[in-house]
Amino acid sequence: MTRRVLVTGGAGFIGSAVVRRLVRAGWEVLNVDKLTYAGNLASLNEIDNSPNYRFLKADIGDGAAMREALDTFRPDLVMHLAAESHVDRSIDGPGDFIQTNVVGTFTLLQEALRHWRGLDAAAQKAFRFHHISTDEVYGSLGEDGLFREDTPYQPNSPYSASKAASDHLVRAWFHTYGLPVVMSNCSNNYGPYHFPEKLIPLTILNALEGKPLPVYGRGENVRDWLYVDDHAAALELIATTGRLGESYNVGGNNERRNIEVVRTICAIMDRLVPDAALGAREGLITFVTDRPGHDARYAIDAGKLKNELGWVPSETFESGIEKTVRWYLDNAAWWEPLKARYDRARLGAKG
Ligand code: NAD
Ligand code: DAU
Repeated sequence: MTRRVLVTGGAGFIGSAVVRRLVRAGWEVLNVDKLTYAGNLASLNEIDNSPNYRFLKADIGDGAAMREALDTFRPDLVMHLAAESHVDRSIDGPGDFIQTNVVGTFTLLQEALRHWRGLDAAAQKAFRFHHISTDEVYGSLGEDGLFREDTPYQPNSPYSASKAASDHLVRAWFHTYGLPVVMSNCSNNYGPYHFPEKLIPLTILNALEGKPLPVYGRGENVRDWLYVDDHAAALELIATTGRLGESYNVGGNNERRNIEVVRTICAIMDRLVPDAALGAREGLITFVTDRPGHDARYAIDAGKLKNELGWVPSETFESGIEKTVRWYLDNAAWWEPLKARYDRARLGAKG
């Protein structure tokens, strides 16, 4: 039987990795994306001529459009990735985050529920709604400890608060209405096709152009880095085999201080594209005003996903970051046009 998946946010960073993976694996894929500043159809060039791929430009907050998409495409699986995703932008303008992440998720859930209720018993049994979320809902860790699925929610930014709200809605639609859902919460992703507002692509492109490398505070904050294709593999597994009503944490077991990440990128670039006039790129590091409400440390215990579903990441941080730097060096045609949308200026500094 051909499997049919409706992916929201499939023109984004993680969504496009999921779409590329599922199209190649033979799924029938409908990508529903509003194409905000972060949406980029060029991230799908490798698969967009495939007969099992189609695209719909629509807002998840548009109930009528979601209803028609579900009724005509008739997916067995919805993978919900569409979101406003950047913490710094949520500090400057939280409204879009509430609208898409909270109201949009509510609208999509309502339409998914209506659709599911209209299916026959066999199709109802096969249907799943997979909600993709973040480890930021758990708040901030101290020196020790890891986020587990039972860690209490304590979101600190407008972004993480909006994602926490969406997680609670999804959980409630399972318990109250019986919608068959599964959820996952992931740590920081990195890899190809990452929009250059985020730390890793911003550092790579600024280092290439000899521009300052902004590090918030003293660069001591810790993130747990996961290569995006490892995340996409985990998402396919969770969506198809995760237990209904459960959530799964996904992490790379790659904790790094931000300053280490930036120094590692500088060293790789000095080796791959040495620039005698520039000298060592570490000299470009500039400590800037900290992010308001900056969470100190994120780190994931992905034991449940490993023990129940058998997932482990295949990239180490060292192998993944080398691949990532090489990808940006080889794919200027992807990132050059993005300069017109975002000039890599500091966002979210004022709070
Ligand atoms: P992204 O910002 O790169 O992409 C988001 C996509 O959603 C874009 O294509 C955008 O056009 C689309 N979109 C935004 N609003 C929409 C709307 N109202 N209707 C339809 N489409 C809309 O985000 P990403 O980094 O790929 O993150 C994807 C998901 O994974 C998000 O839910 C995010 O919260 C979650 N997540 C991200 C990370 C990470 O490190 N990037 C980690 C954990 C979880
Ligand atoms: O943990 C998962 C989250 O990871 C996802 O839910 C978010 O969607 C995703 O954007 C990411 O959030 P972060 O805020 O951790 O990612 P960002 O790349 O913005 O920042 C990573 C770290 O680097 C963070 O501690 C802030 C710091 N930073 C960021 C930028 C853009 C800098 O020091 N300098 C910078 O210029």
